[in-house]
Amino acid sequence: MTILACLFDLDGVIVDTARFHYLAWKVISNRWGFEFTEHHNERLKGISRMDSLEILLEIGGITVTSKDKTQLANEKNQIYLEYIMQMTPEDVLPGVRNFLHELRNNFIKTGLGSASKNAGLILERTEMASFFDVIVDGNLVTKVKPDPEVFALGAKLLRINNKNCVVFEDAVAGVQAAHNAGMKCIGIGSPLIVREADAVYPGFDNLRLKDLCIN
Ligand code: G6P
Ligand code: MG
Repeated sequence: MTILACLFDLDGVIVDTARFHYLAWKVISNRWGFEFTEHHNERLKGISRMDSLEILLEIGGITVTSKDKTQLANEKNQIYLEYIMQMTPEDVLPGVRNFLHELRNNFIKTGLGSASKNAGLILERTEMASFFDVIVDGNLVTKVKPDPEVFALGAKLLRINNKNCVVFEDAVAGVQAAHNAGMKCIGIGSPLIVREADAVYPGFDNLRLKDLCIN
């Protein structure tokens, strides 16, 4: 395939905010006294805030009113924001900036495709916004991954055909969203988790464009 654009998930790909989401949800789950593990947390990756809460409640076997759900999601977000406000450009994962520079040097378009409504704030804190030609976040889409909307909209705004886009994702739902958009997907992280991806790399450290094995 000819790569004309690369679309990046944010949490767990550009920055390690997946850990902050986990810690914030853990504060909420601790109140109910059930163990919310990192293994459980994999199910929440790439999923919207409200859908994450639904999964958390299901794991804990907890029932709450819809008003309480809104309140709990807001509380989780406040805890999460405390972590985000501490972020600096040093929190960008190793090799990410070099890889994005390499794409620019090769005239490959770049886009962000994240379910997060806090993406703008995270990009601002880490000074990463200028690396992306388009930014599609949770405020712009109505359907969540594995629906392809977030990546399809990114490709549309970049005016690049879906089949010429490669997505970088750390979450199962995100890999599925890329494939549902008819795009190739590079998994970032463990092959045990992103096993449906077309190729998997542990991260961007030492990753070069020419190394990408996708057909
Ligand atoms: C990303 C993360 C999810 C998170 C979602 C919404 O996709 O992987 O874990 O739930 O964004 O984030 P938000 O910042 O809007 O709560
Ligand atoms: Mg992610």
